[in-house]
Amino acid sequence: MKNRLKLRNIGFLWDLEEPLPKSRSKNKASIRAATRKDGERLRKIAVELYLPEWSWWVRKIGGKERARADLMSYVGEFLRDRKKRIFVAEEGEKIIGFCGAAKHDRGTGTVGYGVAVLPGFRKRGIGSMLLLAALDWLKKSGVRFVTLEEETFGFANKDIPAVFLYKSLGGKIISDQTFSLLQV
Ligand SMILES: CC(C)(COP(=O)(O)OP(=O)(O)OC[C@H]1O[C@@H](n2cnc3c(N)ncnc32)[C@H](O)[C@@H]1OP(=O)(O)O)[C@@H](O)C(=O)NCCC(=O)NCCS
Repeated sequence: MKNRLKLRNIGFLWDLEEPLPKSRSKNKASIRAATRKDGERLRKIAVELYLPEWSWWVRKIGGKERARADLMSYVGEFLRDRKKRIFVAEEGEKIIGFCGAAKHDRGTGTVGYGVAVLPGFRKRGIGSMLLLAALDWLKKSGVRFVTLEEETFGFANKDIPAVFLYKSLGGKIISDQTFSLLQV
């Protein structure tokens, strides 16, 4: 059976010469840069971090284990490369969220794969803390312009939480495209 997936791709831009909003969060989670030792703990939660919003992508790529392998190739690369960094949120001994950031040349950077927080820990300001930590690191590294691409499925007229989060932390929408993908 064939059906059409409707995808929406939104591009965000931050100009870090403008002041970043202050974190208003008062929760117990702490944010730190991940090290290679965190790889295994991240592997365990990698897919769950993106559900349910990204279940369409998990299906598209061929199931949870493929999705995990794909996410971990990105996580591994970010943990090895000195121009890239992953920030994790921890509560107790548990990693509950993450956000990747990468520096490019000439004062530009990206937030890779957006921000993701485990479903049971959302709406408590942790996503904001992670994104602010990533933007702050990029700014301190001399980056001025930061881009982020967000892909959502089937919500042409409805923003997903990540879009609200990026807008609430000063991200400006610079592109917004909707297209159809034929799925077998
Ligand atoms: C997007 C995500 C990281 C937000 O994490 P979070 O810890 O819940 O975010 P916060 O609590 O810091 O919320 C920050 C802002 O986002 C918005 N927001 C968060 N969840 C929302 C929801 N369900 N509906 C509407 N707005 C929401 C609000 O504007 C909120 O600001 P407010 O607290 O002043 O109202 C989380 O929903 C998630 O992990 N989603 C799945 C992964 C994903 O899609 N990531 C993006 C991939 S590119």
